[in-house]
Amino acid sequence: MHTRPLSFSRRLSASVITGVVSALAVHVAVVLVFFVTNGATGENLIALNNYFIVGSVILAGLFVVAGLIGAFRTWWGAAIAGLVAGLLASTLGVVIAVLGFGQGWSEQATQFLLTTLVGTNLVLEIAAIVVAVTLGRSLWRLVTTWKRDIQRRVALVRPPSSRLDEGELTHLERTPVDHELAERQWDGYVAALAAEGFEVLDVAAADDLPDSVFVEDTVVIFDDLAVITSPGVESRRGEVDDVRETVASLGLRVEEISAPGTLDGGDVLKVGTTIYVGSGGRTNGEGIRQLREILVPLGYRVVGVPVKKVLHLKSAVTALPDGTVIGHKSLVEHPGIFDRFLAVPEVHGSAVVVLSHDAVLISASAPKTAALLESLGYRVVPVEVSEFEKLEGCVTCLSVRIR
Ligand code: GLY
Repeated sequence: MHTRPLSFSRRLSASVITGVVSALAVHVAVVLVFFVTNGATGENLIALNNYFIVGSVILAGLFVVAGLIGAFRTWWGAAIAGLVAGLLASTLGVVIAVLGFGQGWSEQATQFLLTTLVGTNLVLEIAAIVVAVTLGRSLWRLVTTWKRDIQRRVALVRPPSSRLDEGELTHLERTPVDHELAERQWDGYVAALAAEGFEVLDVAAADDLPDSVFVEDTVVIFDDLAVITSPGVESRRGEVDDVRETVASLGLRVEEISAPGTLDGGDVLKVGTTIYVGSGGRTNGEGIRQLREILVPLGYRVVGVPVKKVLHLKSAVTALPDGTVIGHKSLVEHPGIFDRFLAVPEVHGSAVVVLSHDAVLISASAPKTAALLESLGYRVVPVEVSEFEKLEGCVTCLSVRIR
């Protein structure tokens, strides 16, 4: 099972929610303990609230910082966070209260501080540890996994241009493209994604851009981040404009690869937190460097892979849901670079779209590979994409999956 790193916005919201709610729980618990033991009167309740409120606000801030540094991921991290935050909040609460009297700090004040740390505020310190380990940990898990388990299954697609048959060719001889068949195959591909539960969204059609149907080359999605690419061939550069607008409208954060960097989405293979990037065709070293700069701070590892025999890295290899990289041996120059590699019997079987943890979409031109994957326990959905294969396209390039 691969785990994706948390986006900054997710980490921040988890830290704020965990910190504020946990500190509130500590505050209520401490006030109630003293309320019950010191005589339950309304006046008493207000005085207790006022006494502990400064410490509790500081505790909330410290818990937020603890969340940001990842303390709530483990029970012992949460316990240390509770101990340190409880002690600091108690100390600062007393210091602020004493200085508030305007008499400055004195030896007596130090004495008072030490007494409260092992006296009145001990309840707050213990409550901070208990709440951090129990409620804090639960809240952290809840917010960080919220909706990550429910896959956002959006697929961006782009209708074929009427000039599809003018698309770029690098390794194949040009053969006539049956436009009507291409349209039917594209409809079938879209229907297959929809049948698998994807909400399919169209990027506006671009008739003057022959290769625009291969929308995957224009953007790569990493959790809530969309990286707009810098296509490595002049005729495709205009494709990114509408795609940028579409991903921004979905609320994704947008970063860009810019010239002299070039990078095609078809060269980017995600396997958990490892991002393999094909180099030598449409993607250059500067493009990979820029992508690495964007992704490494987010917890990804970017691995460059020289590609010579095919247009894109993903024309040669893709990955199964379990992270095994698959490809046809004749196209893969460096199988050893991948953690786990499995050879498939057909060239068109190299490309699969992961539909779920147990299902993949594959070209109908690769029945033996489909049988192999079924024998490995996967449900395999075949689709006809022969007209796009004539243009060095494959099942992956026809959509961008956002989940
Ligand atoms: N025909 C697809 C490409 O060259 O980008």
